Amino acid sequence: MTVALVLLLLILAALWGPVILWRQRFPELRWDWSGLDLEHPSLPAGFEFGVATSAHQVEGGATNSNWSAWEEATDARGRPRIKDGQRAGRACDHWNRFRDDIALMQHLGIKTHRLSVEWSKVEPRPGEIDKGVLDHYHEVFDAHRAAGIDVALTLHHFTHPSWFDALGGFERRENVEHFVGFSARVFDEYQSKVSLWFTINEPEIFAVLGHLIGVFPPGKSNLQRTGEVLANLMHAHTEVYETLKKRTGGAQARIGIVKNIFQIDPYRRWSPLDWWLARAGERLMNERILQYFERGVFELQLSPLVSVRYENAAGPKSLDVVGLNYYSHLTLSAEPWSKARARVRLRPSEVPTDMIFAAYPEGLYRALTSIRRLGVPIYVTENGIADAKDDRRADWIRRYLFAMARAIEEGVDVRGYFYWSLLDNFEWIEGFDQKFGLYEIDFETQTRRLREGAEVFREIVSRR
Ligand code: FCB
Repeated sequence: MTVALVLLLLILAALWGPVILWRQRFPELRWDWSGLDLEHPSLPAGFEFGVATSAHQVEGGATNSNWSAWEEATDARGRPRIKDGQRAGRACDHWNRFRDDIALMQHLGIKTHRLSVEWSKVEPRPGEIDKGVLDHYHEVFDAHRAAGIDVALTLHHFTHPSWFDALGGFERRENVEHFVGFSARVFDEYQSKVSLWFTINEPEIFAVLGHLIGVFPPGKSNLQRTGEVLANLMHAHTEVYETLKKRTGGAQARIGIVKNIFQIDPYRRWSPLDWWLARAGERLMNERILQYFERGVFELQLSPLVSVRYENAAGPKSLDVVGLNYYSHLTLSAEPWSKARARVRLRPSEVPTDMIFAAYPEGLYRALTSIRRLGVPIYVTENGIADAKDDRRADWIRRYLFAMARAIEEGVDVRGYFYWSLLDNFEWIEGFDQKFGLYEIDFETQTRRLREGAEVFREIVSRR
């Protein structure tokens, strides 16, 4: 009996000893927020404040893209893909109201608007460019300029034309040339009006949600394919970068990619399973992509059946800047008995947002200090909270700006911070229910109203 007990204790110690040491070696960063000066984040001269939006989420009138098709589709059980069958429809009607929205930006005092062009509108059929749409974006960019607001342009923000999807989208390497062609066309058209270029928004979210979890189009679930899509997106970014650099205005243009970082942390810090899962998630979502930009090799060896390798010596040279989208970490709990095998769980001590993640400002500091290894200037291209009650927004803004300022004080080269989002808008899976806007929208009347919780952003911006 005693021998059995001792043996059991030894086994437990052998199992958990390393976990205890491991968790001490990698503590989860938490700060004591009391007594910190959150009203005056210290930021360098020339630091750019901005707001971010994306075409499909605000413009309205997209009828020819992977997302407009997804909004009409149902899953195998006949359920709509978007919450309650919502559709982007006319969204914020920003297509028609862009001048009013620029006036809202002026009221905030910001310097930059990060937005995207809708590929499915610009090139409705392969090789066929809609001149009227090009003219529209000229008007939009000119209006920004007239208002003293710089344009940071994203070329692919989750959406692309249906015809591109029908060809297999980014699942096929040979399709990348279509994206390169579109990007070159847009660059030639607007290079003198755009101050910052971003090729692809959040390649890992696009690939994993669309090809592994299946909640984004094309709604698939295949790990090997997910890895291949990611490799193709690395290829696409580098090809676009090299192509644009060779064009008129290319040498002076600042071009980068937008990387989202959700650190994947173990929900139970004592659980070897949660740690294992978190490490695998980190590799897939973050590490391997950052490594591509450091070493020119994108490699995924997630199981004996899943193996992807893409090498391109031009990879590490294909960034003048990098965009970081940061919201939070995801604390994963392994649940091998369940259908999903794992789920994101919030710790009781964390401040929830209306999305599935909590507020974690320390994570922005962590993400910035990790992405600095790419050695190029960083822009925080998205950060914001879904907060319908507007009772956490002000604190979110203060704390995340503080975290960013701390990273800057430690030498991280952050040049700008763009709040997500200017307006309440169409959130991909959740429709209009998630309220990310500094401005609240009444979608019936399309009226905009500055939220109280957003005043702190305006004050911090205007104080500079
Ligand atoms: C990011 C997306 C952006 C928006 C925010 C909430 O992942 O880039 O379009 O939906 O999340």
